[in-house]
Amino acid sequence: MTEDLQQRIQAALANPQNMGEMAGADSIGTVGNADCGEMLRMWVKFKDQNGKRVIDRATFQSFGCETAIAVASLATEMIRGKTAEEALALRTEELAGELGPLPPMKIHCAQLVEGALRSALEPQNAEAQIKKTPAPTPAPTLLDSFSKPKQGGVKLTFLDGGK
Ligand code: FES
Repeated sequence: MTEDLQQRIQAALANPQNMGEMAGADSIGTVGNADCGEMLRMWVKFKDQNGKRVIDRATFQSFGCETAIAVASLATEMIRGKTAEEALALRTEELAGELGPLPPMKIHCAQLVEGALRSALEPQNAEAQIKKTPAPTPAPTLLDSFSKPKQGGVKLTFLDGGK
């Protein structure tokens, strides 16, 4: 990774935007990357503006990778005021915004953000979530997903690195 890109990532991480869960979100998307073990969850809230349903706010939670956090911070700002269709039309490199082009080994970090956004915004996913989740039930946090695996759900195992 170039020093320049590292500086831009550090600048984005110095003041990350929209980190954390959102109570009362309209839609939630979660994705993981099996290769690097990163997970990212995104919450989206809509509002009506001039007769259109636009994104009022989006927040995220992520474990680990600085690049994914930096991209998620920029992307959640970038999609404000856009319709779901407009946000879904953004390409991976556009979501990375002012970070500029990412090196090949870091493109999957932006794709993780794009995947969470897609998962949250694609209508069939949103509808499925609404059907599956009774309104007052809060979504589990990303930490809950790791620490309290549901019966029959995915069991996550952490490696201790041989220490
Ligand atoms: Fe895998 Fe960044 S290293 S998401």
